[in-house]
Amino acid sequence: MIIKNVKLTNFRNHDFFELNCWKETTMISGENGGGKTSILEAIYECLQGKSFRAVDRDILKRGKEFYRVELEYVNGEKTVAVYENEKKTFYVGDKKTARLPKKYKYPVILFEPYDLNLVSSSPSHKREYFDRSFGQLSEEYTNLLNSYNKALKQRNELLKDDFMNEEMIFSWNVMLSRFGVKLWALREKQVERINKKLTDVYRSIANNKDEVLLVLKKDAEITAESEYLKKLETNLEKDKILGHTCFGVHRDNYDFVFNKSGADGSASRGEVRSIVVAMKFIEADMILETTGKAPVVLLDDVFSELDETRQKALVYNFKKNQVIITSVGAVEDIE
Ligand SMILES: Nc1ncnc2c1ncn2[C@@H]1O[C@H](COP(=O)(O)OP(=O)(O)O)[C@@H](O)[C@H]1O
Ligand SMILES: [Mg+2]
Repeated sequence: MIIKNVKLTNFRNHDFFELNCWKETTMISGENGGGKTSILEAIYECLQGKSFRAVDRDILKRGKEFYRVELEYVNGEKTVAVYENEKKTFYVGDKKTARLPKKYKYPVILFEPYDLNLVSSSPSHKREYFDRSFGQLSEEYTNLLNSYNKALKQRNELLKDDFMNEEMIFSWNVMLSRFGVKLWALREKQVERINKKLTDVYRSIANNKDEVLLVLKKDAEITAESEYLKKLETNLEKDKILGHTCFGVHRDNYDFVFNKSGADGSASRGEVRSIVVAMKFIEADMILETTGKAPVVLLDDVFSELDETRQKALVYNFKKNQVIITSVGAVEDIE
């Protein structure tokens, strides 16, 4: 699907804004605080059903009663999102729904400046990053993760309860083990897929012979549900004292290995940037392989953060995608 244009009303600082998009690359330039990220946020919302950075209450222009985003594709189809009276409504096809139906969603690769820190960021940011990425590749992953998080929340609430019902805890342990083991298997599968491409793609950007590997650091080397369950039970007393579940897939981490040592300490700033750019290409590639759809690529302010070689690599590698780029000030032509 190719986006033809987007219209924003009362969205963040915009009263009304219209962006016509090119089939290949669209550039949005402006001053800081001008509302560039907000335009990407509006596009993202129509493609994915929700913002990547905030809830609707924060998006609604201060002092206004409603916001509206309309995204039109070149084939004439439209996705409209309206938020009014604390209620969101999507208008798609001839439907009116509170959530954007799956068949009207479209994959997106979002590249924010903060992503450039991916290699050295906290475990929770890395988990969030890969959860979002794997979620776009597999609906099963998203569903399992949601179920796991719900069960985790329930178990954590029970742990804080002085009159805790042990049977209830047991049933949440069983759930967490079931979902957790499956999530690990899916994470391992996706990491393996990434690794099949990572070094080659990295070399094509950095033009050298370095080796890059992504490693999933599971909270424990467990593959069987029964072992997972046992670990939760062994930890119960400790969990009760802490008031939360201290073992499980919600504690995983990811490491990038650069020429056999941790990229965090050994790769230079430029090399780290090449790794992140490589990750974005691979994600786009995997989405195309899996869904047959070339994701829309939203590059928020990252262009100016990259040197010319990496900028060219970005434009070149996203040839199959519609790319929308924001940048502070004027944007120079990239050939
Ligand atoms: N709900 C809102 N109502 C009015 N203004 C807002 C709202 N949310 C954010 N803003 C303002 O909108 C401006 C645009 O933000 P942003 O899109 O992040 O700009 P840019 O990416 O161009 O730097 C900021 O100055 C911010 O303070
Ligand atoms: Mg911005």
